[in-house]
Amino acid sequence: MKAVGLVGWRGMVGSVLMQRMREEGDFAFVEPVFFSTSNAGGAAPSWAEGAGPLQSAYDVDALKKLPIIVTAQGGDYTTEIYPKLRAAGWDGIWIDAASTLRMADDAIIVLDPVNRSVIDAALARGVKNYIGGNCTVSCMLMGLGGLFQHGLVEWLTSMTYQAASGGGAQHMRELLTQFGLLNDEVAHLLADPASAILEIDRAVLARQQDGSLPQEHFQVPLAGNLIPWIDKDLGDGMSKEEWKGGAETNKILGLGGAGAAPIPIDGLCVRIGAMRCHSQALTIKLKKDVPLDEIGDILRSANPWAKVVPNTREETLRGLTPVATTGTLAIPVGRLRKLAMGPQYLSAFTVGDQLLWGAAEPLRRMLRIVLG
Ligand code: HSE
Repeated sequence: MKAVGLVGWRGMVGSVLMQRMREEGDFAFVEPVFFSTSNAGGAAPSWAEGAGPLQSAYDVDALKKLPIIVTAQGGDYTTEIYPKLRAAGWDGIWIDAASTLRMADDAIIVLDPVNRSVIDAALARGVKNYIGGNCTVSCMLMGLGGLFQHGLVEWLTSMTYQAASGGGAQHMRELLTQFGLLNDEVAHLLADPASAILEIDRAVLARQQDGSLPQEHFQVPLAGNLIPWIDKDLGDGMSKEEWKGGAETNKILGLGGAGAAPIPIDGLCVRIGAMRCHSQALTIKLKKDVPLDEIGDILRSANPWAKVVPNTREETLRGLTPVATTGTLAIPVGRLRKLAMGPQYLSAFTVGDQLLWGAAEPLRRMLRIVLG
C-alpha cells in the first residue's frame, strides 16, 4: 500500500473526492495521510480507520515524505507550496484539482476516459504532475469525446450555462440566499392569486437593483439573472474561462505544440443560477457529413458515461437538465440535430456535474492509475 497525502479533503471538491474514493473502495489501496491548513494535530476523519492526526499542509518536510500527494486545496495553496516542495527535492506524483499548473509543459491534464494514452505516455517518460481540467472542458469532452476520437471535429463553439458551484461553496450559498430574499419580497403577492404579475415583477426587479441582496461573491445578483462573464478579463475581449476552453481541450487531446494542429474551440461562458451542473450548447462543424444515427453510436461508444438523449421534448425535459444530472456520473448529450447551415453543422447540448467529472472523478481515477 502506498502512502498518499490528502490536502483540501474537507472543502467542496475535496468532500466529493473523499465520497467518491470511499464509494469506489480506493482507500483499500492507499494509506492516507490527511493534511490540514488550519487544524494540524486534529483528528483524521472518523471513517479513515487507523489514519494518524492531521498534519500541517504547510509542513514541507512532512509532505516530502509522501510518494503521492492529492490536493483539492485550491490554486493559492498550489502556488505557495508546490514550488517549495520541488525545491526541497521532492520527486513524488502531484495530483491537483487547481488550474495553477495545468498548462505547464511538465504537467498533464487528466481525463483518462478521453486521454489515457497521453497519460500513459507521460507516466512512461517520468512526468510527475497530473492536474484535473477545467470543469466545463472535462464535462464537454466526456460527452463529445467520440467525435474527437474519430477526428470528426473541424471546429467547435460552445455557449455555456455554468452553475454557481463553479465559483465555490460560498457562491452557492449566496445564490440560494438571493432566491430566498427575492421570494420573501413578494411572498404576500404570490399568495394572492389575484395580484398582478407585473407588480410582482417590479418588486423583484427593485430588490435586485437596490443593492441590498448579498452579492459579495458574484458582484451582482445571480438569482433571476445571469452573468455572461466567468473568471478574469484577459483584456482582449475574452474571459479566462473562454480561453481555457480552447487551450485545455487541445492540451488534453494532445494537439497543438509539436503534435497535430489544434482544433479551433471558442465560445462564450455564462454563469446561471443552477447549483452544480454545468451545461453547454455546442455548434460543431464536422469534417464530413455523418448521419445522426452514426453520431449517436460514436458518442455512446466513446465511454460508458456519455448518454445520448433522444432529441424530443419529452426526453429532453426528462434527461437533459442539471436537476436530472446532479449527483450522477452520467454526461447526457442531446439536442443532436443538423443545423440549417448545412449537413456538416451539428448542434448538441450536454450537461455534467461539475463536482464529479468536472473536478473529483478525474483525480481519483488518476490516483488509481498511478497505484497500478
Ligand atoms: N471555472 C469554473 C467555473 C470552475 O467558474 O465554473 C471549475 O473549473
